Amino acid sequence: MAKLAIIGGTGLNKMSDFHVIRREVVHTPFGEPSAALTHGVLTDNEVIFLPRHGPAHNIPPHKVNYRANLWALKHIGVDRVIGVAAVGGISAEMSPGRVIIPDQIIDYTYGRDHTLFEYDLNQVTHIDFTQPYCEQLRKRLIVAGITTGQNIADTGTYGVTQGPRLETAKEISRMERDGCDLVGMTGMPETSLARELDLCYASCAVVANWAAGKGDQPISMEEIEKNLLVGMRNVRALLENLLQTSQT
Ligand code: HPA
Repeated sequence: MAKLAIIGGTGLNKMSDFHVIRREVVHTPFGEPSAALTHGVLTDNEVIFLPRHGPAHNIPPHKVNYRANLWALKHIGVDRVIGVAAVGGISAEMSPGRVIIPDQIIDYTYGRDHTLFEYDLNQVTHIDFTQPYCEQLRKRLIVAGITTGQNIADTGTYGVTQGPRLETAKEISRMERDGCDLVGMTGMPETSLARELDLCYASCAVVANWAAGKGDQPISMEEIEKNLLVGMRNVRALLENLLQTSQT
């Protein structure tokens, strides 16, 4: 049977209405994942949940062991992964609270362990990453968003920055010229590692704030938390709908 995992980000460190069956500790050749993998049931469907930033939400974006997280999910037989992420809105239509299903990525991160293909290779391996997300899963997220009455954005280019600091106004202007619609810190290398492992991966992003220089106030944690509260409620409704209508 197909297995679906949800990698929760800031604002979705726990899943309410998620009935835990068991926690599975997986050790990987790349070190320890962010947490034990939690097997549970959401709307009568089995799902595996992994909090990206750890159970105590204390692993910053550049310190997440993305390789271990994705490898562990593959190892236990997961074949589809939804990565939930908090992002900043760059384009005018990416307003706080909105849920976005991105279709493209620009990677600005550096110094992260970003590939599984570097040791003990028979030959150099390159993955096709023209379309970084799994279109089938993206479509299902979009349908679930529309069905739950949300003003979901069905495309968007996700610019991934190193963090943990937020960006300068000029960095955001440059990203806008590059074609980024949203900015976050965790989309890479999570998405490309999923492709390396042949996992069907899509992202469900929630706009937590206007990106630097795009709003009329400095970015505050209070604003982020307030918008995430609303946005993540919508994400939960979307995920529940997706599971109810799915062949997980
Ligand atoms: N920039 C980068 N990552 C983020 C932001 C932002 O403005 N908001 C939430 N995650």
